[in-house]
Amino acid sequence: INIIRAKYIASAVKKAQYPEERLKEIAFIGRSNVGKSSLINSLTRVHNLARVSGQPGKTQTINFYELTARFNETGKDKLFHLVDLPGYGYAKTAQTNRKQWAKFIEEYFLHSEHLQFVCQLIDIRHEPMKSDKEMFDWLIKNNIPVLIIATKADKISRGAVNKQIAQIRKSLGVKEIDILPYSSPKKQGRAELLNVIYEMLVD
Ligand code: GTP
Ligand code: MG
Repeated sequence: INIIRAKYIASAVKKAQYPEERLKEIAFIGRSNVGKSSLINSLTRVHNLARVSGQPGKTQTINFYELTARFNETGKDKLFHLVDLPGYGYAKTAQTNRKQWAKFIEEYFLHSEHLQFVCQLIDIRHEPMKSDKEMFDWLIKNNIPVLIIATKADKISRGAVNKQIAQIRKSLGVKEIDILPYSSPKKQGRAELLNVIYEMLVD
């Protein structure tokens, strides 16, 4: 598939604000600054579709994007939603904000009728933090399919990539899970992620 169109649809902090269109959804979650919005831009090839910032905590609402995928063999188009979620684990966010964060994200994960899987992003340079592990365990416990994406792969040497991937697997306490190295500026991992999306859309 190719992504031939991408547009912003809506922002939400509660279920009533989710888009009405019944399209399959993929959500992106991860610590603040891990590169969620950058990944969405690189996947869609639309610069500035999702707002990117060097300052953590940029994305504060659940943001829906409508993407059009074109199947290479048939030329047919299929629409789906990408969902950009606010980052977790940002120390400077006030305690009350954090509670609210948990509440509306939890509502999304547990009550979205169209969510197919979650991409959890983890910075490839560091060992997963406590908040990453807690998020991952929570998704597994709630039977939400997860794809781990190791971001900013361009920031370490090629040789270090596999070592870091193994470290992430070990820290999360899982042996068999696929972890996809990704670099937004280099578009590394993009073809693989498109394959996963293809499998979701043909189902
Ligand atoms: P919040 O919205 O605050 O939760 O952050 P986010 O996860 O959406 O991160 P964002 O995409 O805004 O990126 C944060 C910073 O990391 C920006 O300065 C990006 O340019 C940088 N960045 C993101 N992805 C990559 C990557 O793959 N490689 C490199 N080198 N830098 C990246
Ligand atoms: Mg963001």
